[in-house]
Amino acid sequence: MVNCVVNWTNSTGTNGVYKRNKPIVFLSYVTKCQILSVIMPETDDPSTGLFKKYLANNKIFRDREVLRHSYRPQILPHRKPQIDNVASILAPSLRNETPSNILIYGKTGTGKTACVRYVGSELEKASSKMGTICQIVHLNCEVIDTQYRVLAQIAKNLYGMDDVASDKTRTHIPMTGWPTDQVYAELKNQLEAGGGVLVIVLDEIDKLVKKSGDDTLYNLTRINSDLKNSKVSIIGISNDLSFKDFLDPRVLSSLSEEEIVFPPYNAPQLVDILAQRSDAAFMPGAIAEGVIPLCSALAAQEHGDARRALDLLRISGELADRDESTQVKEEHVKQAQAKIETDSMIECIATLPTQSKLILFSMLILEQLGQNIFTSGEVSRIYQDIAPSIELDVLTHRRITDLISELNMLGVINTRVVSRGRYGRTKEMWFDSNTGKIREVVLKDPRLNGLKDLDVKQMEAKWLKTWFR
Ligand SMILES: Nc1ncnc2c1ncn2[C@@H]1O[C@H](COP(=O)(O)OP(=O)(O)OP(=O)(O)O)[C@@H](O)[C@H]1O
Ligand SMILES: [Mg+2]
Repeated sequence: MVNCVVNWTNSTGTNGVYKRNKPIVFLSYVTKCQILSVIMPETDDPSTGLFKKYLANNKIFRDREVLRHSYRPQILPHRKPQIDNVASILAPSLRNETPSNILIYGKTGTGKTACVRYVGSELEKASSKMGTICQIVHLNCEVIDTQYRVLAQIAKNLYGMDDVASDKTRTHIPMTGWPTDQVYAELKNQLEAGGGVLVIVLDEIDKLVKKSGDDTLYNLTRINSDLKNSKVSIIGISNDLSFKDFLDPRVLSSLSEEEIVFPPYNAPQLVDILAQRSDAAFMPGAIAEGVIPLCSALAAQEHGDARRALDLLRISGELADRDESTQVKEEHVKQAQAKIETDSMIECIATLPTQSKLILFSMLILEQLGQNIFTSGEVSRIYQDIAPSIELDVLTHRRITDLISELNMLGVINTRVVSRGRYGRTKEMWFDSNTGKIREVVLKDPRLNGLKDLDVKQMEAKWLKTWFR
């Protein structure tokens, strides 16, 4: 028995590939046949069993999806007052009355999106039971961030008809290309044709306002005066209230007819949230006693962020799983915390301007040359030598020290000011994290990519000659 990969053309001229662990018994059917490769397997089992050990060692997770951001919990401990508040404001929609607009705010991970989605799905269930028309359209304005896209996306999601193109009774609004007035007019037609109440949730509303101003909100908060047969209400959600400064006062007062604040969770509240989710996520006994309190305490210290607490618990579980450990332990939580911190720092470095990345790269060169602590003068000299070679404007020493302070504030490097006697004071800096990863992300910048093959030793010889002559 041989394992063959065969290319053939049959009598009808159709080409095909046969790749199976079987003798070739159909040659009469094949008119032109070419054996590409023959592999002699050691056993009849074609799999090498690479994944077997990972599947066999399923001692930690029962269902890790329960800990992911995409999971929609049906039980939300410690959010009853906020859930009841949103529900009571939206309840008139079940009597075909227009609910007040709501502005919801609170720090990241405080359950705003989860609670509004939960209330929305309960509202739609209640309305379909009562036979009223009431719909929620939930838009993430981080992605849908222009007036055109907001209006077109609302129309697309209306009345459970995602595939508007196949609905002959409605005009399909393309996702680009029409004048905005026409999109708005068509949305109004569709609302009037459908009737009932539409609740539009603009999640991360600050992103929409900062990207495209307040035109969308101006139009949506006024749309009811153009509608006879239907009603619209808006829920704006944000963790960054500075967007209010970009709003016309009339738009702001209309949007914030009701305001609901989601406070941060404290450690005992996070313990309840994690405990409730972990029952479904982990095997019985898979979490050591101190793990949930430690995840909760660490997340409460940050901003009382349930997302951070859930991430810590999930990553701790993944690390324990990878270790082939039978239980998630506190040391896994500590490793998970370090991993999250490094990952978020790397993400932050990736978004820095090229000039700041080149300053970091200059520090990495000093490190490659055996230094652990660098002065701003040394960093400046290397920076000023390299910048022209990649056609970057050369910044002054003053500007470089500003960018170094910024890197310190972002937590990418540590700095301290030291006195050097009669030479005055100087700033010293050092890395305390994985510099390999920092180098990797810095070199991903297309303008710095050419530096990856820089011969540091050769440069050092040149620097020694010019600086210490
Ligand atoms: N009370 C709760 N019970 C269970 N899970 C919760 C609770 N609050 C938040 N979560 C979970 O924490 C994560 C973050 O919550 P959510 O996305 O609702 O935060 P948010 O306030 O919208 O944050 P952001 O401002 O960053 O968008 C989600 O996975 C959510 O399911
Ligand atoms: Mg959210």
